[in-house]
Amino acid sequence: MEIVRNVQNRSATRNTFETENQKQTGAQNRGRRRFMRITLCLLLICVFLLVTFILLYNQLKSERDQMKKKVEEKSKDLNSLNIKCNRLIEELLKNLTSLSLKQLELEKNYTHLTDDRDQLQTNLTFMSRMKLEFENAKKRKSCQNDWKESDRYFISNEEKSWSDSRRFCKNCGGDLVIINTEEEQRYISSMVKEKVWIGLSDIENEGNMTWVDNTPLTEGYWHQGEPNNVRDEDCVEFMSSSEPVLDNWNDLQCSVERKWICEN
Ligand SMILES: *[C@@H]1O[C@H](CO)[C@@H](O)[C@H](O)[C@H]1NC(C)=O
Ligand SMILES: *[C@@H]1O[C@H](CO)[C@@H](O)[C@H](O)[C@H]1NC(C)=O
Ligand SMILES: *[C@@H]1O[C@H](CO)[C@@H](O)[C@H](O)[C@H]1NC(C)=O
Ligand SMILES: *[C@@H]1O[C@H](CO)[C@@H](O)[C@H](O)[C@H]1NC(C)=O
Repeated sequence: MEIVRNVQNRSATRNTFETENQKQTGAQNRGRRRFMRITLCLLLICVFLLVTFILLYNQLKSERDQMKKKVEEKSKDLNSLNIKCNRLIEELLKNLTSLSLKQLELEKNYTHLTDDRDQLQTNLTFMSRMKLEFENAKKRKSCQNDWKESDRYFISNEEKSWSDSRRFCKNCGGDLVIINTEEEQRYISSMVKEKVWIGLSDIENEGNMTWVDNTPLTEGYWHQGEPNNVRDEDCVEFMSSSEPVLDNWNDLQCSVERKWICEN
């Protein structure tokens, strides 16, 4: 009995031992499995992270490339714009220079033209004076036998009407005499020996005695009772020096023929 009990005991002990062994082995298996699971998880996470990283990297890279391309394009545009701008500035500067040159030339031409015009004007004035002098010289020449150029006054030998007398004086570059001062009146009185026409009449306007240069008479040296306009007397004669010196003008019919006195 004892033995059986022992055996039984031993067996029980063995059983217990075996069970404990079994138990140990189970725990080890479980630990290994957990370790495997954790490792797998970590591995998966790693793979996930890697994939995510790669994806992100690729995306960032492509975006960066796109940006780079855009920046390059923009800089190319900028470059071409810059070149265009420079060309435009160059052209503008060239145009400005050429315009300045043109302006200078125009100013020079203008000055030149102005000079020419002034010279022509001077020449024209000169020619006009020459022409007038030439014409007067011609007139004097035709009068030379009668009226010396150096003389201020000319007293005719012929007799003509007042108008014809005046025409003669004008053809010789003068006119019938105008007596402006008492001094002149006295001087002419000293020269005149016979009755002569002078440059005074009221042909244009009856009663308004006017000199041949259209100035109205201011002071006259009329003979007593003159001018009386008897029988329409419109022209004035200077009577001979036998008359009182400051009292010797008379109005007379213009058609009467008289000697005359011209003044240059
Ligand atoms: C420069 O001048 C030329 C002709 O003279 C003209 O055709 C051109 O447009 C001008 N350029 C500029 C930028 O004004
Ligand atoms: C300036 O005058 C010259 C001749 O005198 C002429 O050839 C030239 O075209 C003129 N310039 C201008 C800008 O008119
Ligand atoms: C003006 O006259 C002078 C000579 O008197 C002549 O040499 C010059 O060419 C003339 N000027 C003009 C613009 O005709
Ligand atoms: C006389 O004639 C002059 C010149 O013709 C004129 O100025 C003046 O007014 C005239 N006088 C009268 C009163 O007609």
